[in-house]
Amino acid sequence: MQNVTRLCHTKSIVSVNGQFPGPRIVAREGDRLLIKVINHVPNNISIHWHGIRQLRTGWADGPAYVTQCPIQTGQSYVYNYTITGQRGTLFWHAHISWLRATLYGPIIILPKRGVPYPFPKPYKQVPIIFGEWWNTDPEAVITQAMQTGGGPNVSDAYTINGLPGPLYNCSAKDTFKLKVKAGKTYLLRLINAALNDELFFSIANHTLKVVDVDAIYVKPFETNTILIAPGQTTNLLLTTKSQFPNAKFLMLARPYVTGQGTFDNSTVAGILEYETPLPMNKLQLLKPILPALNDTSFATKFSNKLRSLANSQFPANVPQKVDKHFFFTVGLGTSPCNSNKTCQGPNGTMFAASINNVSFVLPNNSALLQAHFSGQSKGVYSPYFPSSPIIPFNYTGNPPNNTMVGNGTKLVVLPFNTSVEVVLQDTSILGAESHPLHLHGFNFFVVGQGFGNFNPNKDPAKFNLVDPVERNTVGVPSGGWVAIRFLADNPGVWFMHCHLEIHTSWGLKMAWLVLDGKLPNQKLLPPPADLPKC
Ligand code: C2O
Repeated sequence: MQNVTRLCHTKSIVSVNGQFPGPRIVAREGDRLLIKVINHVPNNISIHWHGIRQLRTGWADGPAYVTQCPIQTGQSYVYNYTITGQRGTLFWHAHISWLRATLYGPIIILPKRGVPYPFPKPYKQVPIIFGEWWNTDPEAVITQAMQTGGGPNVSDAYTINGLPGPLYNCSAKDTFKLKVKAGKTYLLRLINAALNDELFFSIANHTLKVVDVDAIYVKPFETNTILIAPGQTTNLLLTTKSQFPNAKFLMLARPYVTGQGTFDNSTVAGILEYETPLPMNKLQLLKPILPALNDTSFATKFSNKLRSLANSQFPANVPQKVDKHFFFTVGLGTSPCNSNKTCQGPNGTMFAASINNVSFVLPNNSALLQAHFSGQSKGVYSPYFPSSPIIPFNYTGNPPNNTMVGNGTKLVVLPFNTSVEVVLQDTSILGAESHPLHLHGFNFFVVGQGFGNFNPNKDPAKFNLVDPVERNTVGVPSGGWVAIRFLADNPGVWFMHCHLEIHTSWGLKMAWLVLDGKLPNQKLLPPPADLPKC
C-alpha cells in the first residue's frame, strides 16, 4: 500500500514496487519472462499480461478464478511465459475485482535483436498510459454498485501516466510533459488502461501516424485523432516540427460515449514542449479539437482504416474456412432485485450484462482451468454455452427490457485447431452501446462490421479475408455488429469479456475451453508447483 495524492485528495492505494502507475516491462520478442508477484497487501491479487498469447502457458494468464486462484496475502506466484510472435505495446493489470484501477503498467516488446521496425527507427519511445482516478477507494465503488444494483460512481479524473493535468482542479503540477527536440520522430506507445471509457486522443497541430495496434503492425496511416478503447494499445509515430515553434501543445484525451449510462466528460491533458531557448511561460498554448462525445461516425471511419500489413514478412493468417460459427449478443439488461430493498437499477431492478442472455458467474473456490485440468469440472462449470441467444429478439430495435438474462458458468468447448467465427451483435436493450470485447490467449481478425442486425445471408459476402486488422480487443459498434475469426491453436481456458470493467462486473463475460491437440507440442503445459490455491 502507498499514499498517493491527486486532485488534492490523498488516499492509500495498492501498488507494485511502490510505483504508480506500475513499473514498465521492457522485453524482446522471443524472451522468456519470469515475474514473481509477492502479495504484501490485505487484498487477494492476480495479474494479467493483457494481449500476451500465452501459448500453452495458460497458467500464467492471470484472470482470477479463470486460470488461477488469487494470490493471497503473504503468498507469491511466479508468472512464467515466453513472448512468441508479438512485438509492440501491451500492458499488465490486476485481474480481480477493480484493483486494476491502480495496478497497471506498460509491456514494451521490442523486435528481436537485429530485426528492424517496418518504419524508420524512432529517435525515442514514449509510453502514454491512460488511467482513471477515483478520490475514493475503487473497491468501495464497485462493492456499492453490486450491492445496490445501480451504476457505479464515475471516476474523478482521467490520467496520462497517472497524472490528471491542468484542466482538473488542483492538478496543474500533476501534468504529464513530453519534452521533444525539433525534427525528430518519436514512437508514442498508447495504452488505454482506464476502467470504463473509450477515449479520443489528439495533440494540437501535430499529425499522428498509426503503425501498430495491440502489438501487431498495421498499414500506416495519418490522422489527427485516434480512438482507443480500454484494453487496446496503439503505436503512433509523431514527427516533430523541423524548427522549434513559438508554442506549446496540449495533448488531450476524453471519452467516446455511446450509452445513456454513466459517463464523465472531463478531459485529461498533457503538454508537448519543444526544447527551445524561448521562455516557456511566454509561449502560447495551443489546443486540439476532439470529436464530439458521441461521434460514432468518427469511430467507424477510424476502425475501418485499420488494416494488417499482410505482406510476406508479416502475413495475415486469416482463417479462410470456418469450422464453427457463433452468434453472440452482447449487451446490458436487468435482473430482479436480490434484496428486499428496492434496487437502484432501472425500475427498481439490478443492472445485469450478458452474452447470449447468460450473465457469467465466476467460481469462488476454484479456477476454471484447474477444474478442467484435474478433471473436476462437475459443480464448477458446465460445458454447454448457448451457441446463439436462447430467445432471439430484435437486437437493435427498442424493446422495453431484456428480462431474459439468466446466470451461469458455461463454457464453449473447442477441439484443438478449430477455426472459429464469432459474430458479436450489440443489443440496444437499455440503450445501444459500444462494447470493447477482449479475448484472452489469442489475437483475432476483424473480418467485418456493420450497423443494425447482422444479416447472415448478405453480410458475410462483404467480409475482408485479405488484410483485416488483427488484435485482441475490438469495439462492438453501438447498435451494430462485428465479426471476428481466430484459430483455436492454444489449449487452455480463455476468458472473453467486455473491457469496460463495470460490464464485466455485471456479467458481460464468458470463457472458451480449448482442448489439447494430439501432438506433444499441442498440449497445455502442467501447472507450476507454486500455482495459488483457493
Ligand atoms: Cu485486460 Cu481480461 O483483461
